[in-house]
Amino acid sequence: MSSIDHPSFGRIDDDRVIIFDTTLRDGEQSPGFSMNIEEKLRMAHALAELGVDVIEAGFPVASPGDFDSVRRIAEAVRGPVICGLARTGGRDDIARAGEAVRGAERPRIHNFISTSPLHMKYKLRMEPDTVLELITKGNEAARRYTDDVEWSAEDGSRTEPDFLCRCVEAAIKAGATTINIPDTVGYATPEDMAAIFRMVRERVPGADRVILSAHNHDDLGLAVANTVSSLQAGVRQVECTINGIGERAGNAALEEIVMALRTRQDALPFRNNIRTENLLKLSRMLATITGFDVQPNKAIVGRNAFAHESGIHQDGVLKNAATYEIMTPESVGWTKSSLILGKHSGRAAFRDKLRAMGYGELGDNQLNEAFGRFKDLADRKKVVYDEDIVALVDDEARDHARIRFGSLEVVSGSRRPARAELTLEIDGGAVDAVATGDGPVDAAFNAIRSAFNHEARLTLYSVGAVTEGTDAQARTTVRLEENGKMVDGQGADTDTVVSAVRAYVHALNKLLVKRARTAPEALSA
Ligand code: KIV
Ligand code: ZN
Repeated sequence: MSSIDHPSFGRIDDDRVIIFDTTLRDGEQSPGFSMNIEEKLRMAHALAELGVDVIEAGFPVASPGDFDSVRRIAEAVRGPVICGLARTGGRDDIARAGEAVRGAERPRIHNFISTSPLHMKYKLRMEPDTVLELITKGNEAARRYTDDVEWSAEDGSRTEPDFLCRCVEAAIKAGATTINIPDTVGYATPEDMAAIFRMVRERVPGADRVILSAHNHDDLGLAVANTVSSLQAGVRQVECTINGIGERAGNAALEEIVMALRTRQDALPFRNNIRTENLLKLSRMLATITGFDVQPNKAIVGRNAFAHESGIHQDGVLKNAATYEIMTPESVGWTKSSLILGKHSGRAAFRDKLRAMGYGELGDNQLNEAFGRFKDLADRKKVVYDEDIVALVDDEARDHARIRFGSLEVVSGSRRPARAELTLEIDGGAVDAVATGDGPVDAAFNAIRSAFNHEARLTLYSVGAVTEGTDAQARTTVRLEENGKMVDGQGADTDTVVSAVRAYVHALNKLLVKRARTAPEALSA
């Protein structure tokens, strides 16, 4: 078996696949999926526990907030390589990325530049020779910060083959240790991607000393297929995201790649370090943080992924699960929703439960407030499930901001306009407001506008149930837009209108944070 030496991983055997997660960078930069620093830290710890090899934590030069989150993840998260993105040739990019990942156990700088004729001419307005020069300079500069340097040919799949080979050769000569060839626009077929990687391996001197990497977007629904074919053509790093989130139609989904590797060892005899039993937990955590659930038929983590509706299928599964199940639900973390605590449960039991669910880091105040809300919920709701606790604690974690929900009373019906009486706590003081509206949610949102004057437009309002039954908690997402800034807020409560108000208040708080940030330079990646 052949192997290569890598600055972060040491000797890598030929059957080892490096799982590179970019949920916090490519995933986070897609509209509506932004996360705050605390949320990113929680995700990063959970990704480390999942066993990913590399966490791409953000794009440090994009804004002070991005820089801080990469820096904090680099300092706090142990296990995976922590990577910061930088433009090859961008002003300050490499220095900012280098500073941001400095505290990591194993830091990586990932620099990229477009190489396709279309991108060079219209986006970069650069000649190919200038791009080649920047590749050399950029990778040499990155190597001054760390030995683990990745270079990407943006729009690589639409790059002219000879030029692509020259670029890859320049990057390797300048010190890149991982070479990533993305299908940035999701245009390639599995055969295209396999041919590109075979060509690079055959034609580029030094390609056998670096890790080749695939990064596929899902515009034609081919991202995972392109990743699998790239592996078969010699790639040993796959870039992917939880739930497949990412620019436009998203990136290749981590859970799908990993389960394809596990389930089809006969065709894909590669090893990785992912604890697949954690996959569902990560998917749910991300959905709760971003407010976007996966579709029910989503492979591996969708609600119906292991549900058998037709009688013939149910009969088969009861006789032998292998008749219709190619993997077990337990292998990706599905278990029956468990009844967890009742209204007589004490704080110690609640704290133990939170620890078991991965919420070890809650401070005393946050724990007390979450416990208070749990007791309140247990009084109102017959059965409290794990999912209810997740919604409640996430809601509490979000609630530490300038504006806080106080109380709400709404009168609504078919005879007259709905009326809402609302109390918000704004900068520590109680503010009351009364408003009417076209239905209870409209009245409640009008009351928020009257309590806290603002111009933001409401552009999305969506409600889903956390669990089943009429006493289930509603989970609401609210999107606000103001001067080109867009934020999403989430809220949960057994009362749908309270859940909506919590979501609105969460979005407003995010907007206030965004207003305070300097406008990030327009960047593309
Ligand atoms: O899709 C893309 O090309 C990227 C690069 C920055 C790797 O995200
Ligand atoms: Zn991408």
